[in-house]
Amino acid sequence: MTSDLTEFAASLPKAELHLHLEGSLEPEQMFAFARRNKIDIPFNSVEEIRAAYDFSNLQDFLDIYYQGMGVLQTEEDFFDLTMAYLKRSRADNVRHVEVFFDPQGHTERGLPFSVAVDGISRALAEGEHSLGVTSKLIMCFLRHLSEEEAFETLKQAEPHLDQIAGVGLDSSEVGHPPSKFENVFKAARKQGFALVAHAGEEGPPEYVYEALDLLKVDRLDHGNRSLENDVLVSRLAKEQMTLTVCPLSNLKLCVVDDMRAHPLKKMLDLGLRATINSDDPSYFGGYMMDNFTAVIEALDLSKDDIRTLAKNSFRGSFLSEVEQAAHLAAIDAA
Ligand code: ADE
Ligand code: ZN
Repeated sequence: MTSDLTEFAASLPKAELHLHLEGSLEPEQMFAFARRNKIDIPFNSVEEIRAAYDFSNLQDFLDIYYQGMGVLQTEEDFFDLTMAYLKRSRADNVRHVEVFFDPQGHTERGLPFSVAVDGISRALAEGEHSLGVTSKLIMCFLRHLSEEEAFETLKQAEPHLDQIAGVGLDSSEVGHPPSKFENVFKAARKQGFALVAHAGEEGPPEYVYEALDLLKVDRLDHGNRSLENDVLVSRLAKEQMTLTVCPLSNLKLCVVDDMRAHPLKKMLDLGLRATINSDDPSYFGGYMMDNFTAVIEALDLSKDDIRTLAKNSFRGSFLSEVEQAAHLAAIDAA
């Protein structure tokens, strides 16, 4: 039965709504980019890199993640990184992606803002043309930095408004509540950006409330800890707020101790609009279908649940209703 469900999940068109492009940097690519950019990295082999991916919380991971992205230097690097991710995803029948990048992780290292955004955009256009994968790009503010620095980033994005559809909030959650970024999200909203924020990954339900009420997000990234507050759960279900859930990430970062304790099934049973996503696939053990396979093996998901998850991924996307309808019809027909 498990493998039947996995095959069914693989056959459905899906969208990915929570993916950090820098987190798709595979160890092999890290070596290749380091070599061609003549950058020293503190690892001697792919095995050594993978062995270092042993995290006990979000910060452990972020320390390695920011170090890893240091090998990304040129527009070509960002193009190659993005193309590789799109090819991997297309193999899992992912048809639409809304991907994050962390501009401040690159401008802080002295790269011009345009290097990342131009390389990524060129690959996204090529991916739509050659793979049939449509896309939107979301730039995230790093929440461990100040709101003033987020405003600078928003300013740098001005010449690139046609390339960037949304604004997000990521990095170290605890101690950096959404309220810290209320003004910059208000400005981004005025400029017409779609809005998302990581909330309730490690942070408490109050952070989820702040993301909803102060940042006025269109979608919540993670949201796991919302389940600690029944009133919040009812509201999320009533508003059909999309949660971009990341099962393998949750396991690797010890948000859950065991996949069998993952709240995904509970979220669906509560009527929450949960979706499955890979977050940082190279660091957490896999892409879209690896995540589906892990939850199918661990949780008592039905065929209807799988169909709902695929549908939720399009319903929660920033595609137009007409664009969503075509994908939803294809899922119904499967
Ligand atoms: N940056 C990349 N992945 C992240 C995650 N899961 N949470 C917060 N910030 C991130
Ligand atoms: Zn994330």
